[in-house]
Parts: sequence; structure tokens; C-alpha cells
Amino acid sequence: MTDYQSILERTVRHVQPILHHGKVADYIPALAEQQLGQFAIAIQTQSGDTYSAGDCEAKFTVQSVSKVMTLTLALQRYGDELWHRVGKEPSGTAFNSLTQLEFENGIPRNPFINAGAIVTCDALYSRLSAPIHTMLESYRMQTGNPKLGVNKVVAQSEYEHRYRNAAMAYLMKSFGNFNNEVEEVLWSYFNFCAIELNAAELAKCFSYLSNGGVCTQTQQQILPAKQIKQLNSLLFTSGLYDAAGDFGYRVGMPGKSGVSGAIIAVVPGRFTIAVWSPGLDKVGNSVAGIAALEFLAEELGTAIF
Ligand code: DON
Repeated sequence: MTDYQSILERTVRHVQPILHHGKVADYIPALAEQQLGQFAIAIQTQSGDTYSAGDCEAKFTVQSVSKVMTLTLALQRYGDELWHRVGKEPSGTAFNSLTQLEFENGIPRNPFINAGAIVTCDALYSRLSAPIHTMLESYRMQTGNPKLGVNKVVAQSEYEHRYRNAAMAYLMKSFGNFNNEVEEVLWSYFNFCAIELNAAELAKCFSYLSNGGVCTQTQQQILPAKQIKQLNSLLFTSGLYDAAGDFGYRVGMPGKSGVSGAIIAVVPGRFTIAVWSPGLDKVGNSVAGIAALEFLAEELGTAIF
């Protein structure tokens, strides 16, 4: 039997020398206060066991990893109809780039860049009376933590510095690809990004991605198995923005990163991994997080190819 706990502990030791590499995200002032040197990792297996190591109690905001949950809730409500409003292609540009949006008539390349997540939030906003409550409910059920909530300081800080995201949303509105009030949808989007949890909770939350759509905590079918295959394919091609190719090459798993330094990675049929370390590379992905996943993939032989 695989000794996950000792592999995770070895991973923690492996990344120790690089925990101060990279920079914390500073374009959101509240995130700039995160301290380098921290690292946590967790695995949620298909059989429902949780293993974690490093700074296991540390909480961080989910940031762009939330885009996976947003897409999940939107697919539950719209199915393939959603793809009229957002594409499925890798962007090859930064997560907050505006350039393609104008050339491509206000249809974002994929649901994982900011524009794509914001338009997906707009779609959800049209179907939910209280989007943040529905969103938190999913996280709480899937982690088993009823106290899980939003870091209001981070959400407010993002809202106060929302200019780029607002520009994307208004541009999409000018193309007719936005149905609700921009400022209200942005507030929901920032709240989704500012949901706060620890590494084990993050792994539990996205257990359904490695388990054919079924949450290992609740046994609830979150999405049909076919949609999970599609979602994982999109994560593989677009989950790490303009570094998706490099991540695929080094780690070989579908993944999604966030500017807090969080990353999830999926090994279908086996487990979901969550990793967090706030030092980011130039693209906005966790330096130690990617190194840890690369090490784990090698140790466990889990690259999907
Ligand atoms: O909207 C933003 O810019 C952030 N709330 C999320 C960006 C993010 O996490 C990109 N990931 N690497």
C-alpha cells in the first residue's frame, strides 16, 4: 500500500530550500501581506482518506482555484449551453489579459482566465438568488466544515482594486455577453476568490474531480462522469494560463492555480492533491507548489501519460 503520509513529508523536505523563492502577489494589497516560507500539501484519495503535511493549519484564500467551482455550478445549471458565452481554448496569455477579448468579440477563451470566470459568474448570477451562499454551501458540504467562510478583508481589497477585472466585464457587456450589473457580479466573483480554507479542505473540496464527479465526503454526484472528463481536459490545457504547457510537461496532471499560491492537481481514479505556498513565479503560479507536484508525480508515478 502507498504510504502517502511519508511521501508528503518527503515532499515538504524536498521544497524546503525554495520556500523563499518567488514573490507574493502584490496587485491585491491584502494578498501582499502573505509571508513567504510557508508550505502545505494534502491528498484526498478516492477512498475518502485525507493526508496532509507542512503548514496544515494555515488558511489561505482559494483565488483562481475558485474558477473550477464556479464552472462546476454553472455546468450544473446550463450544461453545454454555457459554451456559447465562453470558449474552451487555451489563451496563451496572462490570466488578466484583455487583448484577446476585444479581437474575439467579448467571448473569453476559456473559463479559467479572469474574463472567462467573470462571465461564468454572470451566468450563475442569473440563476441564483444568493450566489455566495450557494457557493459557500458547496464548499461547506464538500469539506465537511460548516464554518468555512469568506475573508472579507481580501474580498474588499480586490473590489477596491478591481479596475482590470471591471474593464473586462464592461468590455464583455459592450459586446452583449453580460446580463447583470457588472459591479454586483464582480462583488460575487471577488467573494468567490476570497473563500478561505486550509490545504486538506481544498483537496476535499475538489475530490469529485478525481472520483468520476462524486464527492468522496458526501457521496453526492456533483457532475456526471462525462462532464468531469471534459472539465479535467480543460484544466489540463488551460488551468495554468500561459504556463499550462510547462505545467503539463513537468507535472503531467490537470491542475488549477491561484495567486494566493494554491494549486490543485487531479489524478483521475486515484486522488486530488492540494498544495499551497505563497511565493509566485512571473506567471503567477506557486514556485514551491509546482516543484512539489513535480516531485510527487515522480515519486507516485502519477503523471497521466
Ligand atoms: O481576480 C483576480 O485577479 C484574482 N482574484 C484571482 C486571480 C488568480 O488567482 C490567478 N491565478 N493564478
